[in-house]
Amino acid sequence: MDTTDLEKMVASHYTLGDVTERILTALGLQDTAYGSLDIESLYPVDQLHHGGVSLTQGMAKVAAIKPGMTVLDAGSGIGGSARFLVDSFGSKVQAMDLSQEFVRTAQELDKLVGLSGSIVHRTGSVTELPYDSSTFDVVWSQNVTMNVADKRAMFSEALRVLRSGGVYVLTHFGEGNGDAVDYPLPWAMTKDTSFALPPAELLQIIADVGFHNITDHAKDVLIAPPPPMADGQVDDSLAMGDDMPQRRTNSGRAVADGRLVPMMVTALRP
Ligand SMILES: C[S@@+](CC[C@H](N)C(=O)[O-])C[C@H]1O[C@@H](n2cnc3c(N)ncnc32)[C@H](O)[C@@H]1O
Repeated sequence: MDTTDLEKMVASHYTLGDVTERILTALGLQDTAYGSLDIESLYPVDQLHHGGVSLTQGMAKVAAIKPGMTVLDAGSGIGGSARFLVDSFGSKVQAMDLSQEFVRTAQELDKLVGLSGSIVHRTGSVTELPYDSSTFDVVWSQNVTMNVADKRAMFSEALRVLRSGGVYVLTHFGEGNGDAVDYPLPWAMTKDTSFALPPAELLQIIADVGFHNITDHAKDVLIAPPPPMADGQVDDSLAMGDDMPQRRTNSGRAVADGRLVPMMVTALRP
């Protein structure tokens, strides 16, 4: 499959057609005026990754995010992490995602929490970034790599847009003991759009494109498990699809028995 066809399939995996409406309805929002919602109310819904906002906090910690840094959220989903970084650190964030619907939803949610204009969102691929070289202090990719076949292109582009000394931070699920995983998974319905790769191979590609000080922090970062869902509680199924409980169960089991390996990697641009 060529890159264009693959990216179309991936984008369609992240397109329900009515994500904004599903979120507004589920949150029971009558008032959709600018700034009518606080950012925390969206956390159960807008963090499209295992571990919810705890994973995002852990990533910010290992990346040593400081106030005012410029960050590229490469594969930004509906903007949950981008809003967290602006709110918590005053980061200057640009965000990019393959899914037009997710980008639109991110912009709508920015309005709701009063952050329009603080985050610049655009549609595009992490394998061909539309940014000047040496632009960002941090490039941030949270659970995106599993959908990207051409990791060399993705990592080379991250290196190019980082300034010297800048940090690349990513979370990923690597391939574990080689036994087959069960689909659907949160990021893919079949193996056609899933590219886990053994951890050592992933780290080697990051090194090959020119990063140094490459560290996997996954074992040191405590990711709080999501609390049990109460009846009627909202979650990321609103953006990801109603079969998310099954998809989460499949990935959780694969991590528990060693078929998938969670990673949280930082790497520095020399
Ligand atoms: C599991 S979601 C994670 C979203 C977000 N990072 C988060 O953690 O909330 C994966 C995201 O990666 C995006 N994605 C996958 N492949 C991409 C690519 N080649 N370029 C840009 N975005 C991509 C998808 O559209 C989707 O929004």
